[in-house]
Amino acid sequence: MSKDKTSSITLTRPDDWHLHVRDGAALQTVVPHTAAQFGRAIIMPNLKPPVTSAAQALEYKARILAATPTGTEFEPLMTLYLTDNLPPDEIQRAKEAGVVALKLYPAGATTNSDAGVSDLRKTYATLEAMQREGLPLLVHGEVTSPDIDLFDREAVFIDQQLIPLRRDFPGLKIVMEHITTREAAQYVASADSFTAATVTAHHLLYNRNAIFMGGIRPHYYCLPVLKRETHRQALIQAVTSGSAKFFLGTDSAPHPAHLKEHATGCAGCYTAHAAMELYAEAFDASGALDKLEAFAAFNGPAFYGLPRNTGSITLQRQSWTPPESFAFGDAELKPLRSGEALPWRLV
Ligand code: DOR
Ligand code: ZN
Repeated sequence: MSKDKTSSITLTRPDDWHLHVRDGAALQTVVPHTAAQFGRAIIMPNLKPPVTSAAQALEYKARILAATPTGTEFEPLMTLYLTDNLPPDEIQRAKEAGVVALKLYPAGATTNSDAGVSDLRKTYATLEAMQREGLPLLVHGEVTSPDIDLFDREAVFIDQQLIPLRRDFPGLKIVMEHITTREAAQYVASADSFTAATVTAHHLLYNRNAIFMGGIRPHYYCLPVLKRETHRQALIQAVTSGSAKFFLGTDSAPHPAHLKEHATGCAGCYTAHAAMELYAEAFDASGALDKLEAFAAFNGPAFYGLPRNTGSITLQRQSWTPPESFAFGDAELKPLRSGEALPWRLV
């Protein structure tokens, strides 16, 4: 329990280094939530079909900007979806178009990952080009083999895929996205400066019990799945350690409520409506609110070689309750902690 009775904190305007906003009517709901909190956000490319060219990324960016409320300064940072046959010459076009990174989804690992990479060796020429152009690789770090226990897939990915990849491309910037385990936190903490990680608010706040409390709770199901408490504690230790290798990435991943509350419910927690409030709650609970600003606003820009944002945001210790749901095109979107009080509020 925190002894910190701080009633408000003001931070440099933060960025979200891992975000799903989907497309079409969904943008109208979710983009304003993120733009109200963050100066920039890295936009995941796992649309159907995925964003695999610089031209598609620019079109998608324009649709996101069209859904950004007028007068809000918000910059979507675009990514491409790495496939087995993304041509190396697309990398230079991507760089010129302002694309900031490529995303690696092992084929079948998660939502819309069918077009993902089946064998990393098939991407080596493209990874060479990325290393040359200084474009980072953002990794969904889970093996997909059904023989590997779901809860072990991140740790096995590090041994089987990440360590060899790191060795073969020493100059490639790699972000291990949404880490969930002690193994990942330790790997990243001890790696060189070309390796970093994002951490979500939900993996800092919850362990796997949350998925099963009083019955199955689909809104706590995401991938990589929540792990046991010792792993959550290792993540808290990592983000409050002062290491610049860890930065904020919500992985806010909206799905229509009826597809989460389903026999084969989709993976993804929606947190963009209260992202900084949830992170503040997690840092406060460990008495580490003073570490939140670097995690949310300094470490990410430093890794990506971008300037820090100039504005600021203020969070107040003031209870409020997120709505039960938001409109989401023709469907409903149920945010994490809907109808439950949150202790921090963005002013
Ligand atoms: O829970 C998740 N949801 N994990 C992912 O990797 C993808 C995301 C999504 O797009 O829904
Ligand atoms: Zn994601």
